[in-house]
Amino acid sequence: MFVMDYTNWTAVVTGSSSGMGMQFARTLAARGANLVLVARDKKKLDALAAELRAAHGVTVDVMPADLSSADALRKLSAALASRVPQVDLLVNDAGFGSNGDVAETSQDVLESELAVNVVAVAELTRAVLPAMLAQDRGVIINVASLAAYTSRPRHTIYSASKSFVLAFTQAVWGETIRTGVRITALCPGPVNTGFFAVSKTTPPGAMMDPQVPVNAALTAIDRRRPSVIVASPIMRIYTRIMRMLPTRMAIRLSK
Ligand SMILES: NC(=O)c1ccc[n+]([C@@H]2O[C@H](COP(=O)([O-])OP(=O)(O)OC[C@H]3O[C@@H](n4cnc5c(N)ncnc54)[C@H](OP(=O)(O)O)[C@@H]3O)[C@@H](O)[C@H]2O)c1
Repeated sequence: MFVMDYTNWTAVVTGSSSGMGMQFARTLAARGANLVLVARDKKKLDALAAELRAAHGVTVDVMPADLSSADALRKLSAALASRVPQVDLLVNDAGFGSNGDVAETSQDVLESELAVNVVAVAELTRAVLPAMLAQDRGVIINVASLAAYTSRPRHTIYSASKSFVLAFTQAVWGETIRTGVRITALCPGPVNTGFFAVSKTTPPGAMMDPQVPVNAALTAIDRRRPSVIVASPIMRIYTRIMRMLPTRMAIRLSK
């Protein structure tokens, strides 16, 4: 049973053309929130917008944006900061993971991965916070990963980017704890989405349905938790053991 009432809230979901972001959008619309959908694929966003309007009678705006572009991010962040009605809820879900040694990674891939996974998450959080603080109400969910807890060779940029999201979100939680703003970092294990096809990797274990991490994030917000891990017992134990091992051994075993 959820605690927060999102009826008539304005919720922005980045990465809502697919996977967990799409599931966040569907779940928030079912709970009465009006949506702003962000991703690059306008066709998929338009189709989801039509589905949500018909199913839940909510207002849905589509704002296609490539978050790897500094210019597009600046425009989106300015639009969200000055939006009327203001943004009440932000899900920073858009992200992807490259793989391969850093020495083999192109400058383009490195820059766009950090732009989408790190810069956009921090900048959009920064942009919506003042209005949320002014009305003493707001929710931010930043999608990190179980990978945030490890340094993974060959997934170096991805795991480091998610470590940033976790640390950043937890610190903002500390900044806002005495206010009506709630923020959490969602740290899931493998989820059944387009992620592994995009990163051309195979999942390191059984995959969850996207609804599972979405529900966990919304429950974490109800409980004002700074972060939440969503993973099978085996993945949790593995992550805990890796964090207790001497650093050199943990890195070697992560390979
Ligand atoms: N799946 C997992 O096992 C797993 C586990 C832990 C964490 N995560 C994290 O969960 C989040 C969602 O991923 P997913 O698993 O749902 O994968 P997904 O199905 O591939 O969805 C990724 C979403 O990010 C959007 N996106 C990617 N690059 C973008 C860009 N340059 N500009 C704007 N939007 C962009 C994509 O939309 P467009 O292509 O339309 O732009 C898509 O909507 C990511 O942050 C990922 O790191 C995933």
